[in-house]
Amino acid sequence: MLTATAHIPVLLKEALDALAIQPGGRYIDCTVGAGGHAEAILRRSAPGGQLLGIDADPSAITLARERLKPYGNSALIVNDNFINLPQICAEYDFKPVNGILFDLGLSSMQLSESGHGFSFQHGAPLDMRFDPNQTISAADIVNQYSETELARILFEFGEETHSRQIARIIVRSRPIHTTDQLAELIERAFPKRGRIHPATKTFQALRIAVNEELSRLEIALQQALELLGSDGSLAVISYHSLEDRIVKNFMRRESAGCICPPEMPQCVCHHRPRLSLVNKQVIVPSLAEEKTNPRSRSAKMRAAARIISGEEWPKTTRHSHAPAGKEIPTARNAVRKHVLFDTAVTLN
Ligand SMILES: C[S@@+](CC[C@H](N)C(=O)[O-])C[C@H]1O[C@@H](n2cnc3c(N)ncnc32)[C@H](O)[C@@H]1O
Repeated sequence: MLTATAHIPVLLKEALDALAIQPGGRYIDCTVGAGGHAEAILRRSAPGGQLLGIDADPSAITLARERLKPYGNSALIVNDNFINLPQICAEYDFKPVNGILFDLGLSSMQLSESGHGFSFQHGAPLDMRFDPNQTISAADIVNQYSETELARILFEFGEETHSRQIARIIVRSRPIHTTDQLAELIERAFPKRGRIHPATKTFQALRIAVNEELSRLEIALQQALELLGSDGSLAVISYHSLEDRIVKNFMRRESAGCICPPEMPQCVCHHRPRLSLVNKQVIVPSLAEEKTNPRSRSAKMRAAARIISGEEWPKTTRHSHAPAGKEIPTARNAVRKHVLFDTAVTLN
């Protein structure tokens, strides 16, 4: 039987440090999975810490609830998609927060459980939905989309150089119902040469398309920013270059002052930085972590802290009297210290 401990949390210490977890702080884990990061956050934020854990997959929620039971009302676990972050936080009055974590992609349980059809290692129906109530599955895309649309998905979301040929093979071989059927088709056309299976990129592309992973990530990052209190931190662990590019561009843009095109003689955008980068360089696992947890090999973490200027200072924080237009000193020029919030949260 699969248990929550089957998944080893990636970049655990680095994520906790980047989030600057403080006792009594309030944190959101947008991808709670088996609850590994969440449990560590709850431990480090005791006494008084609170955690909202979200996951789209109900089987992950069951594991996380079981694991986090000892933390009682300090852990609130919600089965939802992180695209609904603002609504979830409003419903549970869980804002502003001191830190938000995204640990994207799949857990080890999801990969090894055959039911989801995420892996070509096990024969399973072509599903790939995190949320079983979602209407579109991988089988719908594979069997119903046009060849052109399939090729676009494989190219854009899998960076598959043989996207057109694979799309043609798929369309000619329809209907395709199972993961092994699809993997064999691709392997027959492109026999295995390097270390990675020739169907790897196709499977990644289909999963991203089914769950709208990239567009949802872009929206959720922006929404997360709005939920952070002053100096609140955002840490994002990604597992492939498409996700990492979105995170990098988002953090760059939000930590920049002027974002006018370089040819503009004078600033017209009046853009103000709303984030300060915690680490200039992307954080990757140590060799020791890669050795003990090979799944961590492709991980990259980026983190940033919220800067709140006087103009946008939320009235709910202790510093609501900060003079308008004046920048509040934060992570960039002060010792990193989290504001504890006045607003009481009821967890049930
Ligand atoms: C890598 S696992 C997280 C593991 C977790 N950090 C731990 O330590 O156990 C990623 C999780 O994110 C969930 N997930 C992916 N996209 C999601 C989304 N848009 N909304 C909610 N959950 C999502 C997956 O179902 C999966 O359980």
